[in-house]
Amino acid sequence: MESIKIVWHGHACFSLIGKKHVLIDPFLTDNPLAKVKPEDLKPDIILVTHGHSDHAEDAVKISKAAHAPVVAAFELSEILKEEGAETIDINPGGTIEYDGIRVKATMATHSSSYNGKYAGNPMGFVIDMGRKIYHAGDTGYFKDMEAIGSIDHPDIALLPIGGHYTMDVDGAFEAVKAIKPAIAMPMHYNTFDVIKADPERFKSLAGTVGTYVIIPEIEKPIEI
Ligand code: NI
Ligand code: MN
Repeated sequence: MESIKIVWHGHACFSLIGKKHVLIDPFLTDNPLAKVKPEDLKPDIILVTHGHSDHAEDAVKISKAAHAPVVAAFELSEILKEEGAETIDINPGGTIEYDGIRVKATMATHSSSYNGKYAGNPMGFVIDMGRKIYHAGDTGYFKDMEAIGSIDHPDIALLPIGGHYTMDVDGAFEAVKAIKPAIAMPMHYNTFDVIKADPERFKSLAGTVGTYVIIPEIEKPIEI
């Protein structure tokens, strides 16, 4: 099986690097935890789960500089296209294939707007690039996560644990039990005061059902 490197840039922003570089939810400019700048990243494709600025902030800038398309919900993709990004539109349940990478959009229970404009459905993604990675986006726990586990079989689940706008640690534990991934990584916590969470508690809980939690460190590549 082809191995990939996962690099956490802080918040919900990750690079998945195999034969291609997939960048998810680029939020760097105003991210207090980020150590890289938008111009440091040259992805082949950018995935944006929804329009909120802590996910979409640098998508247009990086798309233009790297000549990389942005995969986003139909309404958000129309907005980003107007701003000069190259886009691929999608909606929950849909799959696109680009440069040997398959991206399936899943549902997420959240909202989505971009600079005050309605931006369509919030989503998660299952990315198949040798390994299968589920990035949940911003979401609460929902029971259909079981179907993501039983139909898509992700090897790794990237799950928000910060609470307030998304699942907290207990919700993410429910997600782990539904999806049953071999590995999970926490995200979307400790960036701001309102989303403070303890990743070690998530790790202990997930360990009780056999999911190994890797707590990522910013810019430290994890080979899977
Ligand atoms: Ni959000
Ligand atoms: Mn968010």
